[in-house]
Amino acid sequence: MIYPKPADGQSYLINSNNYRQLHQVAEVEPNAFWLDMAKRLDWMQFPTKSGNWQFQKPVSIKWFEDGVLNICANCVDRHADSTPDKTAIIWVNDQGTITTYISYATLLKEVNAMAFSLQNLGVQKGDRVIIYMPMIPEIAYAMLACARIGAIHSVVFGGFSPESLAGRIQDCGAKVVVTANEGIRGGKLIPLKANVDKALLQVAQVKKVLVVNHTSTNVPMVEGRDVVYAPNYNQAVVPEPINAEDPLFILYTSGSTGKPKGVLHTSGGYLTYASLTHQWIFDCKYDDIYWCTADAGWITGHSYVIYGPLANGATTVMFEGVPNYPNPDRLWKIIDDLKVSIFYTAPTAIRSLMQAGDEWLQTTSRQSLRVLGSVGEPINQEAWEWYYHQVGKAQCPIVDTWWQTETGGILITPLPGVHDLKPSSATQPFFGIQPVLLDEQGHEINDNSAEGRLALKASWPGQMRTVYGDHGRFEETYFSQFPGYYFSGDGARRDDDGDYWLTGRVDDVLNVSGHRLGTAEIETAATLDHSIIETAVVGFPHAIKGEGIMVFAISASHTTHNLEELKAIIKNTIRSQIGPIASPDEIYIVKGLPKTRSGKIMRRILRCIARSEFEKIGDVSTLAEPSVVDHIIGIVCAKT
Ligand code: WTA
Repeated sequence: MIYPKPADGQSYLINSNNYRQLHQVAEVEPNAFWLDMAKRLDWMQFPTKSGNWQFQKPVSIKWFEDGVLNICANCVDRHADSTPDKTAIIWVNDQGTITTYISYATLLKEVNAMAFSLQNLGVQKGDRVIIYMPMIPEIAYAMLACARIGAIHSVVFGGFSPESLAGRIQDCGAKVVVTANEGIRGGKLIPLKANVDKALLQVAQVKKVLVVNHTSTNVPMVEGRDVVYAPNYNQAVVPEPINAEDPLFILYTSGSTGKPKGVLHTSGGYLTYASLTHQWIFDCKYDDIYWCTADAGWITGHSYVIYGPLANGATTVMFEGVPNYPNPDRLWKIIDDLKVSIFYTAPTAIRSLMQAGDEWLQTTSRQSLRVLGSVGEPINQEAWEWYYHQVGKAQCPIVDTWWQTETGGILITPLPGVHDLKPSSATQPFFGIQPVLLDEQGHEINDNSAEGRLALKASWPGQMRTVYGDHGRFEETYFSQFPGYYFSGDGARRDDDGDYWLTGRVDDVLNVSGHRLGTAEIETAATLDHSIIETAVVGFPHAIKGEGIMVFAISASHTTHNLEELKAIIKNTIRSQIGPIASPDEIYIVKGLPKTRSGKIMRRILRCIARSEFEKIGDVSTLAEPSVVDHIIGIVCAKT
C-alpha cells in the first residue's frame, strides 16, 4: 500500500520544487552543502572548514572545526532578541491541571539564572554535570545552562536506578548533579533525590547536588553538599565562546557488550544537524505548535524536544506525564487544548493507545494536526494505519524517522511534501546521508530489493565523535566489523523503489518500548544474587512493547529458594541494578543453557524457543549438551 504525497505538496518547506536541487548539491558537494546549512546558526566565528573525517582507524570525525559559537545563545538569546514574546516551551503537568507558557524572554531569564547557579557551585567549561530530573522546564534550563557556560551535561533518565546513576556519574567524572526532590509520572511519585543519595554512597567524587523543589515533599539535605535551587535573576552570565568541536553532551546508551557507553556529541555540527532536520522533516514553521512526547533523558528528547526546536525558535511542548494517565485520551486532549500541529511519538505508545480502543479518540477532534512522526523502533503496519487513519484522519503525512543516539539526528525518513508514504517503511535517506546495505563479509549490496546490515559510508554533522573516555571502544563498536563504514547494528531491506525498511537489531541489543537494553547488561545484573549462577536473556515479540524480555536462569544447587522466589529475586535485582524499564516479562529457571562445546551460549536457539519457532532451531547435535534444548522447550511450553 502506498499513500501518495499530499497533492498540495508545494506548501511544504521542502517540496518537489527545491528537493532535487538540494539533493544534488548534498550529493555532489557535501562539504559546501553542510557549510551552507551551518549558516542557520549564529556563529561568533563562522567556520571555513566543513567535514574532516575518516572512518578507517584511527577514526576521526570533525565538522566546522574552526567555527566558534554558543549553543545556548543559538537556542535562547537570539530568539529572545528577535521574538521575545513568542512561546518557547509549553509545559503540561502530570495531572493536566497546569499549563505554563514560557516565552523566549522568560526562557533567557531562567536559563541565565540556572547558569549563574551552576557557576556558583564551581562548574566551569569542560566540567561534566549529571542531570537527573523529571520532565519539568528546569530540565531544559539545566541543559541549556550547561551549554551556556560550556559545561558538558549528561542527562540520566529519571527511571534509571541509583546503581545505573552511580555508574554514569563515575564514568564521566561528574562533580555536580542537578536533580529534583521528586518527580511525578502517571500519578506516582519518583524519589529522585533519594536515588541520588543512594548513588552517592557509591561514588565519592560529587561535591554539590543542586535540588529543584518540584513537589511539596521535604527531602533530607546533606549539609555542605546539597543546595536548594533558588534562582537569582539579577546576574548576567555571558554565553561562553565554544569551539564547534567542543563537547556539548554525553548520553549513555546500551550496546551488545559491557556497560553502557557514553556517546559524546559536540557542538556546531550537532546543532546544525538537529536544527535542520527538525525544521525540514517536521516541516516546522513559525506558527506551528510542535510536540514530541519523548523524555529529555533520551536522545529524542535532546534533539527534538529541546535543541532542534529551540534552535529554530519554534514552540515546543513538554509533558510531564504518560500517555494513558489518567485515561488513554490524555495525548489527544492535550493536542486539542494546545492546538498541536506537529506530533512525534513512539510506536509503543501508539500500540498501547490503539489497544485501549477508538472510543478514547471520539471526544477530541485533533483538527489542528498536520504532520505526525514516529521514532524508536520499527512501526508495524497495523499501528501505522491506525495512527494515520484514526489519529490523523488520513490528513497528516507520517514521518517514520530512523536514527540512533549515535547519529544525533534523523537519517532516514520520508519528507512530508516529497515522498510517498509506505506504512512501516522509513523510506529515504535525508540530504547528504549515504546508507548502504552490507552482506556478512562487508560487501555493499548494490541492487535494490536487497536485505543486509545497515551502515553509513559518509559522515554527517550530527554524528557522535567518540565514546567518552574510550576512543578504542568507539572504533571497535562501530568501525571494526566493516572497516571504512559506520555500522548501525540494525538490519534493513531496500525495495525496488530504493525505500528502506528497518528490520530490527542484528546484535544482542533489545528494543523494549523504544528503549535500548543490552542483553549482556541484563544478564550481568541478574546474576548478582548468589542464588543465580548463570542467565541468558533474549527478546521476543510483544504486542505493546515491541520486544519483551525473556530470562533463562540456572539457580545455584545450594539454594533453598523455590521457583517463585528465584524469579522474584531475578526481577528485583534487575530492577535495582538497571531500573524498572529492564523488568523481565518472562523468567524460566532451567537446568542448563544451550552452549557450544567452547562454552558460548547459543542465544539464537533461545530466541527460536522464545518465539515458538521450534522448526527454525535446526541441528543441535554440535551443542555440548543437546538434550538441554528439549528440556527448555518443555519448561516454556508447560507454562503456556
Ligand atoms: C531503533 C532512538 C525502525 C533502531 C532515536 C535503532 C528504529 C535504535 C527507528 C536506536 C525507526 C529507531 N524504525 N527502528 N523509525 N527509530 N529505531 O539510540 O534499532 O534509543 O538502532 O535512538 O532504535 O535507539 P536509540
